[in-house]
Amino acid sequence: MAPGEKLDPLPDPFILQPPAFHPVVPYVTTIFGGLRAGKMVLLQGEVPLDARRFQVDFQCGCSQHPRPDIAFHFNPRFHTTKPHVICNTLRGGRWQAETRWPRLALQRGAGFLTLFLFGDEDVKVSVNGKHFLHFRYRLPLSRVDTLGISGDVSVKAVAFLNSNPFVEGGSEYPAGHPFLSESPWLEAPCSRALPRGLWPGQTITVRGLVLPEPKDFTLSLRDEAAHVPVTLRASFADRTLAWVSPWGRRQLILAPFLFYPQRFFEVLLLCQEGGLQLALNGQGVGATSLGQQALERLRELRISGSVRLYCVHC
Ligand code: GAL
Repeated sequence: MAPGEKLDPLPDPFILQPPAFHPVVPYVTTIFGGLRAGKMVLLQGEVPLDARRFQVDFQCGCSQHPRPDIAFHFNPRFHTTKPHVICNTLRGGRWQAETRWPRLALQRGAGFLTLFLFGDEDVKVSVNGKHFLHFRYRLPLSRVDTLGISGDVSVKAVAFLNSNPFVEGGSEYPAGHPFLSESPWLEAPCSRALPRGLWPGQTITVRGLVLPEPKDFTLSLRDEAAHVPVTLRASFADRTLAWVSPWGRRQLILAPFLFYPQRFFEVLLLCQEGGLQLALNGQGVGATSLGQQALERLRELRISGSVRLYCVHC
């Protein structure tokens, strides 16, 4: 980009909060745009061997005095003979009736991946890919704008995700794929095998950061014969995103160009009967058509260009 050139402002729904890696605990952060149904927060960490307790608070502001209301307090406790989680709401400085969840899957000395999925009426929590609890809101979700993590926990990553925009009602229980900050496995160019091709319902998720002075970013799907029926290319020179046909024809995607240097992005491809749906930063922006046979014949996903990847899942 030329010096002095201005970035086009992105419409709000496209702005994605970047993940935080290895934040120091206690950690308090604003949740960009606040919480709303369909948002997810992923917490990856480890419980120290001598942990007594830690807490994850989805709170209304971050003032110290008075203490902010906490819509959802998630509090694993390890110092009793039966480790458990306490959930509660703090309102006007008073704790409400607490709920206790036994059979805690988090363990002292072990890593974990916890996903908080915010719905219309309640928040669901999964631990290591398994549903663990749900908690009905007692304060409006719209008041929550801050995440606080404190106590005995070592945090590897905190990420803010959108649920699959193509799933009706966003009520599907999604899998949280781990975020890796420095992995040779995720260095671009990066390739993933698709041993059985793509089938309706299958998704490809790519999350990462655009590098400084980027040139392009390409995601391509190859078949057994090394043909490339699907290519998605972001070109930074003319700031366009397009599907590129095997013959080099470009079909522009008319959505805001959201790949900015040093900014986080999320690309989701959903395989459907007759093609692929594309979502950028949680918003559906278009589709490309491809017959089911061609989808089934795909064998490889390749990602290249000026990006640092944190998560590639197919
Ligand atoms: C209290 C504890 C608070 C909070 C609350 C939840 O006993 O001091 O930190 O966990 O329980 O109900």
